[in-house]
Amino acid sequence: MLKPLDEIQAQALKALEAAEDEEQLLAWRQTFLSRSAELSQIVTAIPDLEPEERPQVGRRANEVKTRLESELARQRAALQAQALDKKLRQEALDVTLPGRPVVRGRLHPSTQNLRMILDIWREMGFQVYTSREVETEDHNFELLNMPAHHPARDMWDTFYLTTPGVLLRTHTSPGQIRIMRERTPDPIRVVLPGMCYRYEQITTRSEVQFNQIEGLAVGKHITMADLKGTLNGFARHMFGDGVKTRFRASHFPFTEPSGEVDIECFVCMGEGCSVCKHTGWLEILGCGMVHPTVLLNGGYDPEIYSGFAFGMGPERIKMLMHRLDDIRVFWANDMRFLEQF
Ligand code: FA5
Repeated sequence: MLKPLDEIQAQALKALEAAEDEEQLLAWRQTFLSRSAELSQIVTAIPDLEPEERPQVGRRANEVKTRLESELARQRAALQAQALDKKLRQEALDVTLPGRPVVRGRLHPSTQNLRMILDIWREMGFQVYTSREVETEDHNFELLNMPAHHPARDMWDTFYLTTPGVLLRTHTSPGQIRIMRERTPDPIRVVLPGMCYRYEQITTRSEVQFNQIEGLAVGKHITMADLKGTLNGFARHMFGDGVKTRFRASHFPFTEPSGEVDIECFVCMGEGCSVCKHTGWLEILGCGMVHPTVLLNGGYDPEIYSGFAFGMGPERIKMLMHRLDDIRVFWANDMRFLEQF
């Protein structure tokens, strides 16, 4: 009986060396150490042996079983160490490599520009007031002295919403009525920035959406001189102390008299070049004294109160400052443009 035990041990140890993973170890255990294994059958049969043979066979069977169990544990530990080693080599991490750069977001050039201009107005004592982008026809036209069929309405091609009388504002001027009705009879000094929409042909100078900054001052003794002084002050802050400005007569239904402000072309210093279309001047805004009808519609008695208003296009100003020749770059989402600011 001792010989078969030796053979079982030799055979089991050989098979154990060939096992390569946990699954094969379990199969090996089933073959050599389970109840149905040959070794267990020999142990079960010991009582049937000759009495003098029993202790010897029993001892040897125990030795074999103990040896196989310890060899199984050793082989299992060796395989686990091998697997861990392989995994570590595969997942090697070089902690000395430089990190991946994180792309930082930034403000859109249009927003930067808007904030820069608003900072100037804040410094000059103007509050920032935001009015709505979806407006009524009344606020956008009627209350600004442009009744239905008024020819001035042709100046602005409009995006109308499906609800009758509701539209996307074509300019920031309807905010004038809203702030006047909110503040009457207190004096007003505000700027109103925001998006405007015009159903226009898109060109290098005109977009269907663009920002405007409206300005409004209402009080008891506001004159044209205040308007000129304020706008000249703004131009100096914005374009530098030496900037030359000129006021030209113009027409807007909601201001009387109306004007436009040009600054001397900072590319050619008034000599004439392609940026200023050889005029020597660059237009920066429209302005005027608030029309008495508009004051009245805002709740201010035009016999007592007066005011001035202006409206500028910050994208057009930015185009001038950076010599951008196409307004479409602002909304084209081209990173090559956006990353320059
Ligand atoms: C107006 O919109 C008047 N509401 C401005 C105003 C306010 C006058 C208060 C008097 C008193 P205008 O249509 O010119 O005016 O537009 C003002 C500015 O908006 C223009 O000078 C220009 O800079 C900008 N702008 C107008 N249309 C576009 C467009 N399609 N794309 C980009 N900018 C535009």
